[in-house]
Amino acid sequence: MTNKVISLVGARPQFVKEAVIASEVHKTSAWNHILVHSGQHYDVNMSDLFFEELHIPTPQYFLEVGSSSHGKQTALVLEKFEDILLLEKPDMVLVYGDTNTTIAGALAAAKLKIPVAHIEAGMRQYPKNMPEEVNRVVTDHLSFLLFCCSELSYQNLQRENITSGVYIAGDVMYDLFLRMKPHFMKNKMLHNLNLQEGKYILVTLHRDFNVDNKENFLSILRGLNGLIERTKLPIIFPMHPRTQKRIEELNLTKYVDTMHIIKPVGYLELMGLLEGCSNVVTDSGGLQKEAYYAKKQAAVIMPDTGWKEIIESGWNQLVPGNAAKELLPRILENKFIAYPDNLYGDGNAAKVIVKNIMSYLNK
Ligand code: UD1
Repeated sequence: MTNKVISLVGARPQFVKEAVIASEVHKTSAWNHILVHSGQHYDVNMSDLFFEELHIPTPQYFLEVGSSSHGKQTALVLEKFEDILLLEKPDMVLVYGDTNTTIAGALAAAKLKIPVAHIEAGMRQYPKNMPEEVNRVVTDHLSFLLFCCSELSYQNLQRENITSGVYIAGDVMYDLFLRMKPHFMKNKMLHNLNLQEGKYILVTLHRDFNVDNKENFLSILRGLNGLIERTKLPIIFPMHPRTQKRIEELNLTKYVDTMHIIKPVGYLELMGLLEGCSNVVTDSGGLQKEAYYAKKQAAVIMPDTGWKEIIESGWNQLVPGNAAKELLPRILENKFIAYPDNLYGDGNAAKVIVKNIMSYLNK
C-alpha cells in the first residue's frame, strides 16, 4: 500500500524547501504527497509567486490563517491542521524550518501520534526567546526524524539528548540553488532596476528584534546610510510587508528615501539580484546562506545566527542591530577570505531525506 505523507508549508522560506522535496518525491514515486498551506503568508508576492516560479503544485488544503499574534496564529494552524490530519490519517507529517506554521504542525501531529519529520533540524541560536528559536526547539523535541543541514546542527541535537532518527542531509536550499541557477533573473533585474553588475548592495530586513525595536531599527538604517555614503553604491531593498508597516508607524520614511525600495520579489528575481550585487546586508536565515552559495559576502544583522559555519569561516559577518550604525559603513572593507566549500552538503539533501523517510515508513 502506498504511504501517505502530509507536507505543511505556510511562510516564504518553506515554499522554497517544499519545491525541492516535492520534486524528489514525484521523481521517485516515494509516497502519496499531500500539500497543505497554512496561509501564514498570503500576499501574492509572499506566496503565489513562489508556487508559480518553482512549479509547486497547488496545495490540496489552504487553511487561511493569515496574520495575528503569535499565540493566535499558532493556535489557528493547530486547530485547522488537526481537522485535516483526522480526515486524511497520514502516515507521517513533514514540517520545515522554524516558523509558527512549523511548531503548530508538529504539535498537531504529535498529539495524534502521527510521526513528524523535521527538515532543517538542530539549528540553535540566541536570543533563546526569539520566536523562531522557540519553534525550533519544540519542533525538534516532537520529531521522529530529524534532518540536519550540518554536523553542528547534529551536535546541537546530541547535546539535548536527541540521538535517534537524526541524519545530516545537507541543505535543501542548496539543492534548489544549484538546480535553478540557470534560471536566475539577473539580467532582467539589472535592466528593470537600472543597475550595474557588481555595483549595488542588496538589503533585506524583517526580524522582529530589528524592525519592531525603534532603537535597533534606527541604528540599522543609519548604518545603511553610512554605507551608502562611504561606498557610493546604491542600496536595493526588497521590503517585507512587516518592515514596510514599521517604517510608516515609526515615522522612519526619511531614512529610506536614500534607498531603492521595491516590493518583495520571487525566488528567481531575488537570486538574480543576489548574483548581480556586490554584497548583502540581511537578517534573513535563508538569504545569509544563499549569499554564501552565490559567493557574495553578507553582513548578518543579528546578535547570533544558527548558520555559524559561515561566520566561523570568516565569509559572513555578524552585526548586531544596536551596533549597526558604527559597524555597517565599514563592512565592505574586508580582507580577502578564501571561499569555504560545501558547508551544507553537496546539493543532494532532498535525495537523502526522501530515502530515509521511505525506509522509516516501510519498516
Ligand atoms: C515569518 C517567520 C520567519 C521567517 C519569515 C520569512 C515566524 C515566527 N516567523 O516571519 O521565521 O523568516 O516568515 O518571511 O513564523 N504580512 C503581510 N503579508 C504576508 C505576510 C505577512 O502583510 O503575506 C505582515 C503581517 O502584517 C504580519 C507581519 O507581516 O503581521 C509578519 O508576518 P508573520 O508571518 O507573522 O511573520 P514574518 O515576519 O513574515
